[in-house]
Amino acid sequence: MYHEKLDPFPDNFLWGAASAAYQIEGAWKDDGKGPSIWDTFSKIEGKTFEGTTGDVAINHYYQFKEDVALMKKMGLKAYRFSVSWSRIFPEGEGKINQAGLDFYEALVDELIKNDIEPLLTLYHWDLPQALQDRYNGWESRKTAEAFVNYCRVLFERLGHKVTYWITMNEQNVFISLGYRWAAHPPIIKDLKRMYEANHIVNIANAKAITLFHEVVPHGKIGPSFGYGPVYSLTSDPRDVLAAENAESINNSWWLDVYCKGKYPEFVLKQLGDRGLKPTILKEDMKILASAKPDFLGINYYHGGTVKRNNIECKEDRQDKKFSKVDPYLMQSQEDPNPSPEMAMFSSVENPYLEKTAWEWEIDPVGFRVALRRVQAKYDLPILITENGLGAVDELTASEEVHDTYRIEYLQEHLLEVQQAITDGVDIIGYCAWSFTDLLSWLNGYKKRYGFVYINRDDFDEKNLARIPKDSFYWYKDVIQANGANLL
Ligand code: BG6
Repeated sequence: MYHEKLDPFPDNFLWGAASAAYQIEGAWKDDGKGPSIWDTFSKIEGKTFEGTTGDVAINHYYQFKEDVALMKKMGLKAYRFSVSWSRIFPEGEGKINQAGLDFYEALVDELIKNDIEPLLTLYHWDLPQALQDRYNGWESRKTAEAFVNYCRVLFERLGHKVTYWITMNEQNVFISLGYRWAAHPPIIKDLKRMYEANHIVNIANAKAITLFHEVVPHGKIGPSFGYGPVYSLTSDPRDVLAAENAESINNSWWLDVYCKGKYPEFVLKQLGDRGLKPTILKEDMKILASAKPDFLGINYYHGGTVKRNNIECKEDRQDKKFSKVDPYLMQSQEDPNPSPEMAMFSSVENPYLEKTAWEWEIDPVGFRVALRRVQAKYDLPILITENGLGAVDELTASEEVHDTYRIEYLQEHLLEVQQAITDGVDIIGYCAWSFTDLLSWLNGYKKRYGFVYINRDDFDEKNLARIPKDSFYWYKDVIQANGANLL
């Protein structure tokens, strides 16, 4: 679709940047904080890159004023951060740790004082370890109850200061990596348990949203979803159908619950046929239906490409073009829990896209596709809660970082956001991932995303100095011009 002229970004557009507690705060056991599942997991040998942990991270807990001063210098309009649940409730429930609440209130006050809109994420993966031990974490409804109670405490304390709230960050990612691939805590590989836990997270999310509207009637709340649009490799209708399947199970499975309050029937049926359908109590459907998010948070990095699956089309196996077989198609036929995807589609490489050093496809146009699809299907204002490039940056002898590749990446993606706005998508803000460099969960401190370089690496905390990169000054200009200088 061609526009002769692009619409401007809205006047009150939230030009932002994001972070998450475990990835920046450090102070992992200070001032009464309890351990989270990431504190435990990262200390198990071999689980993270070079054994990196968030014990110190970038020391934001102690240097937050310096970080906010840099945000102010940049002219940032909004800052997305997450609250560490076990800082507020060291045991996940029960006794409140006032020092934890004081820290987040001080951060919020500092942001407001500097005219930066706080965007508060309630859950960015760091479940209190005590809840994992006591209840098996998200596999128990007790954890959902504890989550809602934790949310209530924050709503009551900060509801008059914080307008925008995000419930779950990338439920699709933490559930799949935690319960299917065992790459994140709680290190489980069990599809049945994964779907059960996922349902309980849905209940927690819905209850928190409903409660929020009672306690903070003027605030706005929504989940952040890691959305990747699915493409069909060819125009063969069987591949197109495979892409529909993948779109349903990879995206609608979560988004329909958030935005329509019910599961997509197609996926439910497939799970039911394979004995994987979660236990859904009668009252659960009411809980899901009653939660009305005010916006949808979208994290966008890349999408995926699929073709018809290799089980249906045996001839593909001989076809050299399609020789790259998806690992889960190799799953044994006798597996008591065959993954539903096996019968639905097969993932392939997209021949049109280049990749980052970490093999993530670079697809700015896919961003526009994503925004358009989500708007068309769910018709909610969209807050872009993450988008960015992970790269190895070099600090020069004169203490500069010339990250032209990041500027190029962000510029191309932001232009697609502007195209989407011109198409008619209601987008209220954009948070680049991330403000400062931070701990990439499984890639250590080597994979950098920030506008601000942090002088530390995987082996040495060095002096943790904050050094604005070239992209910092570029984004400052973009914000100042309200995006008018992107072209
Ligand atoms: C998102 C997460 O999945 O992607 C962030 O919300 C994360 O917390 C980001 O850091 C980038 O992923 P990675 O694995 O490169 O750090």
